[in-house]
Amino acid sequence: MLLITREIPEAVAMRAAREHPQIRQLGITGLFDPALVLANVAGVAAILCTPADRFDAALIGALSASVKVIATYSVGLEHIDQQAAAARGIVICNTPDVLSTATAELALTLMLMAARRAGEGERLLRAGRWAGLSPTFHLGHGVAGKVLGIFGMGRIGRELAAMARGLNMEIHYRNRSRLAPALEGGAMYYDDDREFLGAIDFLSINAPGGDATRHWLNAERIAQMKQGAIVVNTGRGSTVDDAALIAALRSGHLAAAGLDVFNNEPHLHPDYLTLENAVLLPHIGSATVETRAAMGFLALDGIARALWG
Ligand code: DGY
Repeated sequence: MLLITREIPEAVAMRAAREHPQIRQLGITGLFDPALVLANVAGVAAILCTPADRFDAALIGALSASVKVIATYSVGLEHIDQQAAAARGIVICNTPDVLSTATAELALTLMLMAARRAGEGERLLRAGRWAGLSPTFHLGHGVAGKVLGIFGMGRIGRELAAMARGLNMEIHYRNRSRLAPALEGGAMYYDDDREFLGAIDFLSINAPGGDATRHWLNAERIAQMKQGAIVVNTGRGSTVDDAALIAALRSGHLAAAGLDVFNNEPHLHPDYLTLENAVLLPHIGSATVETRAAMGFLALDGIARALWG
C-alpha cells in the first residue's frame, strides 16, 4: 500500500493508481501532523511525502514494520532523519535533477524582482499611490555587467549561471571544491568566503540546508559584502541568520533580498513582512506544472525500485 501525505498532480496520481493496488491519501493541506501518519500507516509499504512533512527519528521509529521506502517530493532531505531511516532499513529517495531549471528560473525571477524593486512597485500601484513618472521615480539596479556570486554550484547553481550569463553577468562561485572547467563555464572559483563575498554584487544561495550551512549568511559575512549588494535565497532558509539579514536590509547595507525559503516555514520571521526591500515567495522554486509532474514520476520510480527492484 502507498501512503500519500498531500495532493499530487493528476498524472502522477493516475500512474500511482496503476502501480499500487491500494493507496491511502491523507490530503494534508496545512501543518504536518505525525499522529495522522501513525494512525494510517498500518500495512503501508511506501510513503510519498513532501519537505513540509517532518519525518524525525521519533516518527520513523514509530512507523509500522511494513514501511520499506519513504520518497520525498523534493531534492532536499533535511526533513527526514536519514540515520533513523537507515537503522530501520527504510530506503529514502528524492527527486534531484528534474527541478534544477525551474528553481534556477525562480532564483533569476527573485534577483530581477529584487534589483528592480518589482514587488514594491506593484504594491504601490495596487494601493493607488502611483502619481506618474519622473526621472528619479522608483529607481532600481541593473544586472548587466554585475557580478553574480553563487554559493553552492551544484545543478541548480550551474543552471542559474547559464541563465545569468545570458544577461551579461559575470559569474563567481563558492563551493566545497572547484568544478571541472567544463562545468565551471568560465566562472571564477573561491575557496574563501571573505574574498568571495567582497567581490560580488548579487549573492544567490543555492547550497543545501543542514548543519554544514546553518546560518552561513550571518552578520559577520554580511558585513563582508559590498554596500548595496542583493541577496537571493532559493536553497534553504536555514542557511540564513534572519536577524542579521533583516538588520542589513533595514540599515541599507544590503539593497534588497529575494527569498523563497525561510527558517521555520511557513512561519517566517515576521519582520520580513515589514521590509519593502524584501521580495518574499512561498517556497515555489520547483512549482511548475512540468516540474511537479516530473518530480512525482521520479518519486514513483524510486518507490518501484525500492519495492520491486
Ligand atoms: C526541494 O526539492 O528541496 C525543494 O525545495 C522543494 O520543492
